Amino acid sequence: MSELSVAVFRPAVLRLAGHPWFRRLATQSRPGRSLARRFVAGETLEEAMAVAGELDRARTLAMLDHLGENVTSPALAVEARDAYLAALAEVRAAPTLDCAISVKLTQLGLDASLQECLTNLEPVLEMASADGTQVMIDMESHPYVDSTLEVLARVREHHPNIGVCLQAYLRRTERDIFDLPPGVRVRLVKGAYLEPPDVVYQRMEDVDAAYARLFTTLLARGHKIDAATHDPRLIEGVRRRVDAVEEGWGRVEFQMLYGVRRDLQAKLAGQGYPLRVYIPYGTEWYPYLTRRLAERPANLSFFLSNIVRI
Ligand code: FDA
Repeated sequence: MSELSVAVFRPAVLRLAGHPWFRRLATQSRPGRSLARRFVAGETLEEAMAVAGELDRARTLAMLDHLGENVTSPALAVEARDAYLAALAEVRAAPTLDCAISVKLTQLGLDASLQECLTNLEPVLEMASADGTQVMIDMESHPYVDSTLEVLARVREHHPNIGVCLQAYLRRTERDIFDLPPGVRVRLVKGAYLEPPDVVYQRMEDVDAAYARLFTTLLARGHKIDAATHDPRLIEGVRRRVDAVEEGWGRVEFQMLYGVRRDLQAKLAGQGYPLRVYIPYGTEWYPYLTRRLAERPANLSFFLSNIVRI
């Protein structure tokens, strides 16, 4: 995306997507649902596991994301916890599959309280730890960064298999990385939320430069890193940096989203690079879809032109 697109297009689409009429249009129309099908594995765990199996056959690792965020009641947070326990049970039943899970803390009750979130997260971590399954915490919008890092710090001691996502567009991330638990796994992304201009870099080239700097620092500080991007220039930079470090590929993997740059996914996996694909599934796909729409003007125009044709 051009600089203008980052500063203007993405916030405009994310604002538009916040309107109830747009939500209705996207969730209740055929074009909306068919676009969602491109980015979401399905509404059920079974469909997500089928995708994980297909990826495995293509020498690609998997990570399940049960969709949902900002739950509005304790019962919904418990439902999300149970959905993750069910996902872990499926992963346990497929021991040859390398399949991580990724959670959103507002799905587990963070808006209500840190304690409610920890109470729901703990059994998920217990079960994942017992099987050695990796659990990653997604990073949501900037008001959640402090509490997300606080949860990470509290659970990390007993659950070394937990990691966190950090966003390169946030100016604060360059400080946050120095306070991380030593060696913790970090998924590095550009960032996908609607944010006020003072907390994020406005120009794409600044986000990309921050990504490269953060990656280099995380690598030098001994972290395991998931280079989660579809940007060929960043991927090339990661490749060069990791090649220069002894055993570097034991600590770094590429990650991409289901339905995005399948060509690049096939190429990297074919070349033998470690690649994991993030597999979102579930019925609460609308907020996830809006972020994918906002990343690429072509997605929005595909959606709108199909709506016009109905
Ligand atoms: P960029 O947006 O520059 O895209 C590079 C190229 O990739 C584009 O030119 C296009 O070809 C392709 N592309 C990217 N997005 C596309 C789309 N939607 N449709 C079609 N093509 C597309 N963010 C966050 O804030 N918190 C999180 O927890 C996560 N978690 C996460 C996990 C994983 C595994 C990935 C890959 C990404 C995330 N993200 C995320 C999303 C991330 O912040 C970012 O919005 C997207 O990855 C898009 O940015 P790129 O780095 O791919 O670059």
